Amino acid sequence: MKMKTHKIAAIPADGIGPEVIDAGTQVLGALSDHLGTLSFDITRFAWGSDHYKAHGVMMPEDGLDQLKSFDAIYFGAVGAPDVPDHITLWGLRLPICQGFDQYANVRPTRIIPGVNTPLKDVGVGDLDWVIVRENSEGEYSGNGGRTHKGLPEEVGTEVSIFTRVGVTRIMRFAFAMAQSRPRKLLTVVTKSNAQRFGMVMWDEIAAEVAQEFPDVTWDKMLVDAMTVRMTLDPQSLDTIVATNLHADILSDLAGALAGSLGVAPTANIDPEGRFPSMFEPIHGSAFDIAGNGIANPVATFWTAAQMLDHLGEGTASAHLMAAVDRVCAAGILTPDVGGSATTQEVTDAVIKAIRGRNSLG
Ligand code: NAI
Ligand code: MG
Repeated sequence: MKMKTHKIAAIPADGIGPEVIDAGTQVLGALSDHLGTLSFDITRFAWGSDHYKAHGVMMPEDGLDQLKSFDAIYFGAVGAPDVPDHITLWGLRLPICQGFDQYANVRPTRIIPGVNTPLKDVGVGDLDWVIVRENSEGEYSGNGGRTHKGLPEEVGTEVSIFTRVGVTRIMRFAFAMAQSRPRKLLTVVTKSNAQRFGMVMWDEIAAEVAQEFPDVTWDKMLVDAMTVRMTLDPQSLDTIVATNLHADILSDLAGALAGSLGVAPTANIDPEGRFPSMFEPIHGSAFDIAGNGIANPVATFWTAAQMLDHLGEGTASAHLMAAVDRVCAAGILTPDVGGSATTQEVTDAVIKAIRGRNSLG
């Protein structure tokens, strides 16, 4: 079989970021050794808050140019107690998402065996969703302003921008995602009862794009009612598409319903493949536990599986997730999900499971 090499840019950044990316790198190496059909050429970039403290910027000015030629970006987390959050976020992660037009944010959620959900009578297999979040415009376009600051007549505006191009491309992506999954079921989240312009256009474009996907069953939910459906009837959902703000909120709810932030992954995709896409755990730098060796690496393994799928390595991706599931089901878990294992113990167990040993002990 032919060996394929993937060029990966690793940006571990801050707090537990380097701990989980190091775990992920070990697991990718084990996959490559075991399968023998793929390998990774990983370059580490020491960007983040320490870079900021030394140089006044989170990444060099030509950072995006340095990343352009990679096949994918494997990102840890940003955030330091002594650097303001808007600097860490707008200095590294957002410039990459926006500069590389990663307009589709993909957040799978599923109950991992061995991880408890707060939902009653819901177990493995009952909750298996993919949330597609519009990642480039909508409520987070950055369009707005403030006048008469501090005076009684002060005004603040925050304008949501919806464009036909932006909505059409995310709808196509979401319908195609739904089509690729066994249930071929899509729920379009909206708020077009109260928001009469952008959200009504959103609904119209959903109906137009639906014509291109006759085999996908779809329905529409108001975002408020959606929280109830996610909580009380999770089995009725499969693929979900929502605006930047709505999906931001719904995906935190999804993460909580599935058990923990430590197991939730995300992918920032440029579906046209003009630029590298970026794969990361949803959580932040968790400086409350950084350096203790107990960060949960499962979200970072899962996002590696998303990265493998994106790179066309579906078999490797499935092999990795099967190994993660086996390890979690065996109770080898970090403290955030009720276990007592360290990051390295979970990583070693996943590597063993990748190699197909029967005993995980
Ligand atoms: P956080 O996600 O870092 O942590 C929230 C809580 O979850 C903490 O108690 C933490 O210990 C726990 N936690 C998170 N990931 C975990 C893991 N893998 N294993 C075990 N426990 C885990 O959010 P927080 O504390 O609000 O923010 C800390 C910093 O991270 C801030 O500077 C914030 O701006 C930044 N941040 C960065 C993000 C990113 O890089 N994408 C996303 C969210 C926050
Ligand atoms: Mg959020």
